[in-house]
Amino acid sequence: MKRYDLTSQMYNQRYAEEQEAKYKAALEGLRSSINADSAVLDVGCGTGLFFNHVAAQANIVVGVDISRKLLLKAKEQAGALQNVFVLQADADHLPFRNAFFDAVFAFTVLQNMPKPSETLNELKRVAKFGGRVVVTGLKKTFSLNTFMDVLESTGLRIVAFVDNENLKCYVAVLAA
Ligand SMILES: C[S@@+](CC[C@H](N)C(=O)[O-])C[C@H]1O[C@@H](n2cnc3c(N)ncnc32)[C@H](O)[C@@H]1O
Repeated sequence: MKRYDLTSQMYNQRYAEEQEAKYKAALEGLRSSINADSAVLDVGCGTGLFFNHVAAQANIVVGVDISRKLLLKAKEQAGALQNVFVLQADADHLPFRNAFFDAVFAFTVLQNMPKPSETLNELKRVAKFGGRVVVTGLKKTFSLNTFMDVLESTGLRIVAFVDNENLKCYVAVLAA
């Protein structure tokens, strides 16, 4: 929390371009899974850079993060988007009932978590059956094998997987 609080002033300037490339890869893998009825969760939403990519297509978008300072930026980012809400929560203990969201995203978050498989299971818990869970694995932290082990440990089916040299993460779209 403290480490990310410290990045709040420069996060967008330093990381926006890198993150946008991951969003693009993820949304291509998702195709038309998000529609006007969809509830979308962005776990570890940071400054909310992803909101603009889904808010217009979805019914509701919820961003959660552990860092209060990044969430304040996310609130600004949500700005006039009336269907976007943010709250402080731990990715391992999401304050939502089972099977609530149609799509759950976690961009560049798993490398922060003590047990990435457990975090992924928590994302799976709040996703609807047949919904989508999208996670990325930072290549600096996860070898391809390690990341695949994390994905496979949850039993989620891989719908799309992107690994190219322009991305600092693997991007996985999973079916819940
Ligand atoms: C590299 S940033 C990615 C932010 C955002 N997903 C993006 O695409 O720009 C990692 C984010 O994970 C958040 N984070 C770290 N540990 C967390 C936890 N236990 N629960 C929720 N969020 C966490 C950080 O505060 C930070 O916003």
